[in-house]
Amino acid sequence: MADRYLRLTTTAPGRLLTRRLGLPQPAALRRRTPREPDLPGELLHLTAGPSRLELAPTGLKFTGASDRPGAVVLDATAVRDVGTLAEVHAALHPVVRSVATSGRVLVLGAPLDPADHHQAAAQQALEGFVRSLGKEIGRGRTVNLVRLTDPAAAASTLRFLLSPGSAYVSGQVIEVGAGDPTLPADRDLPLAGRTALVTGAARGIGEAVAETLARDGAQVVVLDTPAAGQDAERVAARLGGTALTLDVTAADAGERIAAALPGGLDVLVHNAGVTRDRKLVNMPADRWSPVLEVNLASVLRTTDALLSGGTLRPGGRIVATASIAGIAGNAGQTNYAASKAGVIGLVRSLAPRALAAHGVTVNAVAPGFIETRMTAAVPFLIREAGRRMNSLAQGGLPADVAETTAWLAHPASGAVNGQVVRVCGQSLLGA
Ligand SMILES: NC(=O)c1ccc[n+]([C@@H]2O[C@H](COP(=O)([O-])OP(=O)(O)OC[C@H]3O[C@@H](n4cnc5c(N)ncnc54)[C@H](O)[C@@H]3O)[C@@H](O)[C@H]2O)c1
Repeated sequence: MADRYLRLTTTAPGRLLTRRLGLPQPAALRRRTPREPDLPGELLHLTAGPSRLELAPTGLKFTGASDRPGAVVLDATAVRDVGTLAEVHAALHPVVRSVATSGRVLVLGAPLDPADHHQAAAQQALEGFVRSLGKEIGRGRTVNLVRLTDPAAAASTLRFLLSPGSAYVSGQVIEVGAGDPTLPADRDLPLAGRTALVTGAARGIGEAVAETLARDGAQVVVLDTPAAGQDAERVAARLGGTALTLDVTAADAGERIAAALPGGLDVLVHNAGVTRDRKLVNMPADRWSPVLEVNLASVLRTTDALLSGGTLRPGGRIVATASIAGIAGNAGQTNYAASKAGVIGLVRSLAPRALAAHGVTVNAVAPGFIETRMTAAVPFLIREAGRRMNSLAQGGLPADVAETTAWLAHPASGAVNGQVVRVCGQSLLGA
């Protein structure tokens, strides 16, 4: 599972050799640690167009310990025509070289105006700009675009995208709507007093999600199959939570979850997932249906049960797990990609209604190549291709998906709804 190539390229001789051979140059990404929760370097705030936004305070402490900017925020919300786009170039051209390794470029845009095609063209242009810069910037640096309706509602999103937690999120376009963000009393424990349930949390990405939500103060419920019961108990004990063993495909899974949570639920993470890869010509029905059942049908059923039964409290969060295979498609995965594309459909349709009727947001994470048992089982050459075919030239870690989930689960992320956020290092697949 270890990425030996990444380790090689972080040594001087390895770097020299791989550079000479014209091979990918992944940078060791700076991820969040308890000692280093923030990025070093200064935050540079630039503007394109006539107005300058007052950014909501993010609580990030840029250390200023480096002479290079750790992050650059470009306010392009007022860009309304092609002429003003030149200011985007003028603002970033001189500084992009100096952004620190593992630094951030964040462009702030506005929603596309359906009544003004000049504004829409200019704002859509930012998307092509951001995705291209993400592909060329290198050195572990990320580039993202946030379309803001209400800057005050975007604090948790800016905080996430300007922090080490978003190390593997690049080339994304995220819409943040309007809303009154509920700022938690304790910034380091935003989920204090909240209950979070993560399906498939006995190992892999689910375990990392449970761990990160517990770090943020949540009381976690570690759900997994009876066969994985011992691992679920172990994870729950380590995180001070509880284990719940059941198969999410059981017809009454939602009711059993509700019965186990008489005090209600605040964060529901649909993470359990399976693959049964085979090309369609060789795929019998018994390799199709379990994948659709675990990855999609059970997600629909338990979501419906926990929303309509009132187990998910107002202010609640649902985070479902899609995949870039559900966006790009993948040979040998018609079943898996169908299930994950279905998750995206569920999120986009349900999000506005769940927020209006229950005060619950619904979003998806779409991981790319993440280093887990699932990807360790992939044959070597395909695994190497999967690892390198993204702008950061490496696989992500379960913690990268977990940090993204924690941002979506944050009490102040109520204006982030119906979004599908790829955690894929800007994978070339489906880009
Ligand atoms: N690893 C990747 O690169 C990657 C990429 C894209 C998406 N994903 C998605 O992320 C999620 C987690 O992936 P992972 O790599 O950690 O997988 P994993 O196989 O390591 O873990 C999945 C967990 O889900 C549990 N599970 C499976 N069926 C279940 C059921 N019916 N009821 C309850 N629990 C069940 C398993 O016991 C296991 O603990 C999955 O939805 C997967 O499709 C993973």
